[in-house]
Amino acid sequence: MSIFKHSREGSQSLRINAPAKINLHLEVLGLRADGFHELAMVMQSIDLVDYLEITSNLDGLISLSVDDSNLSSGDENLIVRAAKLLRSRSGFDNLGATIHLQKNIPIGAGLAGGSSDGAATLIGLNSLWRLNFTQKQLMEMGAELGSDVPFCLEGGTKLCFGRGERLESVNISSTPPMAVILVKNSLESVSTPWAYGRCKEIKGSDYLKYETDFERRRQQLRNESWLSSFSALNPPPLQNDLQQVVAPENQSVQDSLKILSGFSGSLGVAMSGSGPSCFALYSNYNDAKVVYDLKKNSLKELGLDSWCCSFQSTGVAFEL
Ligand code: C5P
Repeated sequence: MSIFKHSREGSQSLRINAPAKINLHLEVLGLRADGFHELAMVMQSIDLVDYLEITSNLDGLISLSVDDSNLSSGDENLIVRAAKLLRSRSGFDNLGATIHLQKNIPIGAGLAGGSSDGAATLIGLNSLWRLNFTQKQLMEMGAELGSDVPFCLEGGTKLCFGRGERLESVNISSTPPMAVILVKNSLESVSTPWAYGRCKEIKGSDYLKYETDFERRRQQLRNESWLSSFSALNPPPLQNDLQQVVAPENQSVQDSLKILSGFSGSLGVAMSGSGPSCFALYSNYNDAKVVYDLKKNSLKELGLDSWCCSFQSTGVAFEL
């Protein structure tokens, strides 16, 4: 089946989905020469998904509409930046696109929603504009757009090193997939630069300094036994170094972690990325859903948006 829909004018469209991620592990190792932090992470795609509808044109016009008034549709949106970067690398100024974003992933939440939208734009327009850039080339462009974009292009479960853009595969078995109950205060968002800046202020004196020390920590993470098989008996221990600096200054993170810690059957709770969204981990969707159905009304009354999501093994993907 073709991923393209053809219109009478000769333009083509497609629909692409862009999943969120959570961090099962986020360790801040040190500072890099480029001012970013050196990280050791395990990222996991979940089935909370934004949808992009993209129609190509040859008028050189790139326009974005968004169904969420809290989000800019201008040049600073990662979708527009990704489209313009791809076009400039192609050398064809006449390439254009009309893009509509159906936003489901909360904004400024630590779930890489913007990065996933950027990744979806790269994949979608590479196809619609028939540019044939390789996955490796798209990953390099992704890394220029943001540290999490390469992960979003690949998805699943990945070790992410460097700024977050150096991916390594994990040979993991988990049947059925694990699941999370995810919560976020609807009024709160956290700025990623602020969270890393605060981390530097608080923990900077303890940062590792040398590449040999970074590599030793990477190797320790690669060897973790929970990374070969996710199971209730050997669950991910859930470490997030940013949680330690964001939670004391963000009441909604403290409240979310406390509420989730009281949920029965959970294998652990943590903040995702730079927050403020937090999750409780479950060994499978059915177990998570039973608790979620009992709790979702009270979460709403407490001002928390919530979702029950499964782990998924893919990143951005075309809708057939
Ligand atoms: O790469 P991205 O645009 O997502 O990063 C946003 C900000 O988060 C950076 O400008 C930087 O302040 C901080 N950051 C960092 N180290 C990383 C990733 C992000 O300090 N590895």
